[in-house]
Amino acid sequence: MSFYRERRVRRPLRPDRLPHDVPGRPFTDGWEPIMERRRGYRHKSIAGQPLHPETQMMSYGYDPQLSEGAVKVPIFQTSTFVFKTAEEGKEFFEIAYGLREKRPHEQPGLIYSRINNPDLQVLEERLTLWDRAESGLVFSSGMSAISTSLLTCLKPGDVLVHSDPLYGGTEYLIEKILPRFGVSAVSFPAGHSTRTVEHAVQEAAARGRVGAILIETPANPTNGLVDVAACAKAARTLDGQPGGRPLVAVDNTFLGPLWQHPLEQHADLVLYSLTKYAGGHSDLIAGACLGPEEHIAPIRVLRTILGTMTDPHTGWLLLRSLETLKLRMTCSMKNARMVAEFLADHPKVRQVHYLGFLAKGDPQYDIFQRQCQSAGSTFSFEIHGGEAEAFRLLNALQVVRLAVSLGGTESLMQHPASMTHSDVSPDKQRRLGITPAMLRISVGVEHPGDLIADLGQALAQI
Ligand SMILES: Cc1ncc(COP(=O)(O)O)c(C=O)c1O
Repeated sequence: MSFYRERRVRRPLRPDRLPHDVPGRPFTDGWEPIMERRRGYRHKSIAGQPLHPETQMMSYGYDPQLSEGAVKVPIFQTSTFVFKTAEEGKEFFEIAYGLREKRPHEQPGLIYSRINNPDLQVLEERLTLWDRAESGLVFSSGMSAISTSLLTCLKPGDVLVHSDPLYGGTEYLIEKILPRFGVSAVSFPAGHSTRTVEHAVQEAAARGRVGAILIETPANPTNGLVDVAACAKAARTLDGQPGGRPLVAVDNTFLGPLWQHPLEQHADLVLYSLTKYAGGHSDLIAGACLGPEEHIAPIRVLRTILGTMTDPHTGWLLLRSLETLKLRMTCSMKNARMVAEFLADHPKVRQVHYLGFLAKGDPQYDIFQRQCQSAGSTFSFEIHGGEAEAFRLLNALQVVRLAVSLGGTESLMQHPASMTHSDVSPDKQRRLGITPAMLRISVGVEHPGDLIADLGQALAQI
């Protein structure tokens, strides 16, 4: 929580203050461990044992002593921050706008909440822990995370390679908005071999500079998997192109940040709709992008200019949510297996696209084993019949709520063909396997017996 610390220490020197807290005093490396012990706000290990992210979610990046002892990060509901002196304001801007190099261990100061804010900074630091990312940025929505990150990587004439299907909003961005800026796209279907990825990358490279490779895995709503490492390998074949190889960005909304870690599979950027599992209570909209600082820095600049950051209150809500992230995702994951097994055995259900049912010998099984730590809790299934039967089921639900979105404490169900993916042409829906009989469920933390009873009575009515 670097900016925050810097601001609050600008008081008269007290005997218990550490030398490098004092602006202008040179940093002495020897003090670092002392500071860590005393403040304990960036502990990564205890007695030589690494701390787990679920432990760090309660404290990492925040020193209560700098906020009157408040155990929780207060909401810094402010648009701007007072500079102590004009000279300090000038220095903060020099760093924020890259007008000069940072001095060793110099921390940027708080300026304005579009540029930086303590709630967002603590949140960003905590988010990086799950994915073991160097840096992170939070955004006003998953879509603003995706669009700001893509716009940073792409320029007119570029070609974007992406997996299919994608979330409907991302699809719209690629098909309808990016072409206006001279960016075209080549897609490949999720759930297919690594050769498919290589072909798509070659086809795109023949058309122009490949600006980025964007994948969503598991894909929404089919749960088709994309091999992240294979995409990273394909990107490296373009090392020599002007401006360098394309970055591989992974939308990790469905399984992350607990059950899949794309950076470990050599992706460059991890994208999230934090609206889903990270927020987890269906009461906020937010997004994130994580990765090495060299890739995050230019995205941070564009976020500042476009103003696509989130607000302090949403940042605070997310800090609350992250404390129970593992509990919620673990409970939902266990419930989902029971619900998937119930559906798979039901005579009115034709197919269940649940990752936990992948069988040995299926190439998707190998990707799953290599890439995912769990099958998660959002999946689609197809019933016998079509849209009319699917709608009857949805209208009969009593515990499961009929709504789009996913990853909340409550179970949600929706009809992709007419709702989240209604923008996708009927022909493309057919090719991608989004049928009128498909329903997508996000399993929550309710009692699994109640969920199964609800699904049973609703299926009886179709
Ligand atoms: C996989 C995926 N990515 C991105 C988004 C967009 O997120 P948001 O609604 O937070 O903008 C969604 C929304 O449903 C999604 O499911």
